[in-house]
Amino acid sequence: MFVTVFLLLVTVCAQGGNGEEREEAQRPGHVSVVIVGGTGDLAKKYLWQGFFELYINQVRSGNTFSFYGGGLSPADKGKPALSEILKAVSCSKDLSQERCALLKEQFLRLSQYRQLKDLEDYQDLAKHIEQELQQEGMTEAGRLFYLSVPAFAYADIAEKINSSCRPTGEAWLRVVLEKPFGHDFRSAQVLASQLGSSLKDQEMYRIDHYLGKQVVAKILPFRVENRKFLDPIWNKHHIERVEIVLKETLDVKGRIPFYDQYGVVRDVLQNHLTEVMTLLTMRLPMNLSSSEEVLQNKLQIFTSLLPVGKNQAVVGQYQAYKTEVQQELNKTKDHFSPTPTFAAVLAYIDEARYEGVPILLISGKMLDERVGYARILFKNDVFCVQNHNNVHCKPKQIVFHFGHGSLRYPAILVSKNLFKPVLMDGEWKEVTEHTDVNILGLPISDYYVQTPTEQKEAYSELISHIFAGRKNSFVSTENLLASWGFWTPLLSSLVSSFPRIYPGGADNGDLLDVRVKGKDISYNSEVVIISNDQMGGTSANGFQVMQGKFRSADMVTAWAEELVERLAADIQEAAEAAVHEGGVFHLALSGGSSPLALFHRLTRHHFSFPWKNTHVWMVDERCVPLNELESNFHNLHEHLLQHVRIPYYNIHPMPVQINQRLCVEEDGGPLLYEKEFSKLVNGSSFHFVLLGVGHDSHTASLFPGSKVDEHAESLVALTESPVKPHQRMSLTLSAINRARNVAILVMGKGKHELITQLSRVKDNPHKWPVTGVKPAHGRLVWYIDYDALLG
Ligand code: BG6
Repeated sequence: MFVTVFLLLVTVCAQGGNGEEREEAQRPGHVSVVIVGGTGDLAKKYLWQGFFELYINQVRSGNTFSFYGGGLSPADKGKPALSEILKAVSCSKDLSQERCALLKEQFLRLSQYRQLKDLEDYQDLAKHIEQELQQEGMTEAGRLFYLSVPAFAYADIAEKINSSCRPTGEAWLRVVLEKPFGHDFRSAQVLASQLGSSLKDQEMYRIDHYLGKQVVAKILPFRVENRKFLDPIWNKHHIERVEIVLKETLDVKGRIPFYDQYGVVRDVLQNHLTEVMTLLTMRLPMNLSSSEEVLQNKLQIFTSLLPVGKNQAVVGQYQAYKTEVQQELNKTKDHFSPTPTFAAVLAYIDEARYEGVPILLISGKMLDERVGYARILFKNDVFCVQNHNNVHCKPKQIVFHFGHGSLRYPAILVSKNLFKPVLMDGEWKEVTEHTDVNILGLPISDYYVQTPTEQKEAYSELISHIFAGRKNSFVSTENLLASWGFWTPLLSSLVSSFPRIYPGGADNGDLLDVRVKGKDISYNSEVVIISNDQMGGTSANGFQVMQGKFRSADMVTAWAEELVERLAADIQEAAEAAVHEGGVFHLALSGGSSPLALFHRLTRHHFSFPWKNTHVWMVDERCVPLNELESNFHNLHEHLLQHVRIPYYNIHPMPVQINQRLCVEEDGGPLLYEKEFSKLVNGSSFHFVLLGVGHDSHTASLFPGSKVDEHAESLVALTESPVKPHQRMSLTLSAINRARNVAILVMGKGKHELITQLSRVKDNPHKWPVTGVKPAHGRLVWYIDYDALLG
């Protein structure tokens, strides 16, 4: 059979070929293609078609081929399955029917099923290939193994290939792998090193099918071709923001066992959207066809990406996901999986060129439409006084439209108020006749539009690149690890985030709209109230900020982030009211770790906070020099004071160090502090006192057993802590209880037991100091997060 097909192939070449082709045909090399998992879904949908196209394109190159579909089933089961799949391959429109039929017949004859299970199967395959080569006296060009199998099988198969299927001599070995390549940095590293023990880096072709999408593949050539227009504007002075978006309408029903381990960040953002981001922002290579240079420049971007904090991502989950998980994973009705099906992430690149340019990466399932694009929105400094429809006032943008959406075809669009781009190579055409659509805020007629003359499947493109050995269309080990290095910290911090639940499709409305504020991203609409049922009973009230009562005082409760947001807002409100009333706001702050999130919030979000009119006082201090890490003031300075514009003379650390010694009774530190604030603070009544509470219910530095109720009228006292550093200076209950507003912030599961206890005990400041906090004329509010409240 092999002889017949090879002869046929040479005949075809000779018939249709010109001199050059014939010359190539005289030195043919033989290529064996093995699709491991050859009867699986991916193979059925894309791979066989892709290899058929490769065959058609190579028929005249003089190379010969054999194709093997490998599977775990024995031949009697595998063969018929493969023939069914092969019947479905098709030719492009420009091939005549006869030629198509001929090529297809040849392709089918060259393709066979093989069971590939044990090492012997691989050894037999290798023997078979070698025998055929020998019989035909063929030179071998190479062997291509496409592993279309679950990732857990990679290492084992790679080992079998390495030990039994390596070609000899000059022939190449290429092994193609599909994601997932691990689920975090560590696992990707383990997988990479396992594969590395069987395969050389240049033998591995890790597929990201987005790199095969026609528009994605043209991002770099577009940047190069249009350099003279782009060079002056491709920077922070001109780019407003970059958006890289993949919206999908489908759910993940049927894929839950995989998806629930993964979620949208691992499934789409870590790979597809990240690849696009690197193509858009990497330094242009001197030589576009140098894989090494392209991959190196990509790597450079990873080293410049700033770490993404928790405040730079929002996550969501479509409503039906919960039930799908329960069904597919056999879980009970109260099971809730926090896996996100939607995410919006804000990235920044620490390079002079892109400093401060927000890069948004957004993807989700069950959204209103299926569309993928990258949009570079430029700043527009023109203000149209009269005609807002004037082209100069419209958005200036370049859109790499990967496909679908209202446009329906892949295209590169440049708004006409930017420049007329160079048309990509011969396989692209300009589109001038349009149906009436609007693309990202502009009617299509406001763009220069170009599109590929023929739409090609990403997989077919990539298969031809594998064959050509174009490694820049694939993910190198270094880049893969760099990408996981970037995403893993965010993934870890998202573990404790509850996704916003969205109904799916058009009903999502503006629920998933996001806004970029400072360096953070948040949902544009504030708090969403979801029912207990939706959360599977894991929380009392989902994301709602709740008001209630605790120890007969007011209580605000919410998830930590919303709680802190609320407290910050309340402090600002009190500050504005005080400044309005008397021109000054006196704020007393505690040490400890709970307020750090609050300080962070205040510095990053509350730009209109009246710091200029604010005096900051200490609730308590450890008897250590102020510049030491243990000092509360040091902490306050690090996390708050140095980030806001507060006058130095409005800052009032406690005088714990006098006469070069710490907290000595005779030095009269407490009295000094008391005098200072009695002098400045009207009636010694702070406008706002922020307290925390320790596991032993101490508050400020008032510990159980100390004579908290015996400080009488003193406002400041030296106290003793059971933990080091033992000596403390603290406001007394008298000082605290004179305040207009007192907030007690309690967060974290670790405080649950304390909260439970406190909810039951009577006032006893000697035993439970915090129970002595009872502002005489002011208001006390407990801010307790769900973790502390519910455990
Ligand atoms: C895959 C993801 O890699 O990409 C899928 O696993 C996602 O969840 C798909 O649907 C999107 O690809 P495309 O080509 O349809 O945009």
